[in-house]
Amino acid sequence: MTLEFLRPVIGDDMAGVDQVLRESLDSDVVLIREVASHIIAGGGKRLRPALLLLAARACGYEGTDHRTLAATIEMIHTATLLHDDVVDESQLRRGHATANARFGNAASVLVGDYLYTRAFQLMVSVNRMRVMSIIADATNLISEGEVLQLLHMRDAALDERAYFDVIERKTAKLFEAAGRIGAVLGGAGRNVEDALARYSMHLGTAFQIMDDVLDYSGDAGEIGKNVGDDLEEGKMTLPLIRAVAVGTPDEADTIRHAITEGGLTDFAPVVRALHRTGALEYARERAQAESDAAAECLGVLAPSPAASSLLQLSTFACRRSY
Ligand code: IPE
Ligand code: IPE
Ligand code: MG
Ligand code: MG
Repeated sequence: MTLEFLRPVIGDDMAGVDQVLRESLDSDVVLIREVASHIIAGGGKRLRPALLLLAARACGYEGTDHRTLAATIEMIHTATLLHDDVVDESQLRRGHATANARFGNAASVLVGDYLYTRAFQLMVSVNRMRVMSIIADATNLISEGEVLQLLHMRDAALDERAYFDVIERKTAKLFEAAGRIGAVLGGAGRNVEDALARYSMHLGTAFQIMDDVLDYSGDAGEIGKNVGDDLEEGKMTLPLIRAVAVGTPDEADTIRHAITEGGLTDFAPVVRALHRTGALEYARERAQAESDAAAECLGVLAPSPAASSLLQLSTFACRRSY
């Protein structure tokens, strides 16, 4: 499944978002332009801005601030990616060398900060207290999630509850902010706003579970990232948690050893254990359940092309291969 279905509904808006992004990176400091355009022009699915635009449209919004705020959210997302790739020591992103691989860790961290602050400037330009409060809370929780994840590095005892706690903060909260802001712009009542926020949380959760599945089963050419990154850095994700819980003592040992030692020497036996225990399938089912829960939240919306696209987006989150 691809995101092609978005084009007829928000194609123009998405082009507008990209224009805001391009204009916002026009710093006279050369390194900022280089690093920022390397990652932003590198592509990406632009899922979070699409979510904000669709939520706004589904609530009847007709202005242009949704483009500015969608660009704000994408810029925050991009800043977290620059920082995340340094922490994760990742080499491939959006089909290209990561910024840290190409420009070094220092440049990635500092330009990540630049993007964060640029995002705040964009956000303030819209001048809506409610929106600023949503974004401030979400960015704070993302940081918390990333630090929490750092604390769990090489922790083979991580359980599902702790895993969900991390992914809700590091990923789902930004989705939630995008959906909620769309509703706020559209002047939705609290009931619809909360439903879209819940939809977006479930969507983001499904999306991250699939990201963790694709880290073992995806195609690097398609996902634009290296497969095996999570195991290499000792990140205990849902497929591994499941395989340890239901695998043989030998399989559990293999996985625990791979996580505590890090590196990719155990990659093949770990992937075998994931397949034999049905752990990848289990994780896909959990993602599907999140997508179903997301879809259920959409009942409050009046029928519209944007509302239909939100429904399709929930399917994409758990069926995606990129
Ligand atoms: C990557 O997000 C980080 C996660 C939360 C899994 P995306 O998969 O949306 O990355 P891009 O923007 O499409 O590159
Ligand atoms: C998502 O986690 C990172 C953020 C939300 C910043 P991952 O570490 O799994 O993301 P990828 O796989 O590097 O894109
Ligand atoms: Mg990462
Ligand atoms: Mg990942």
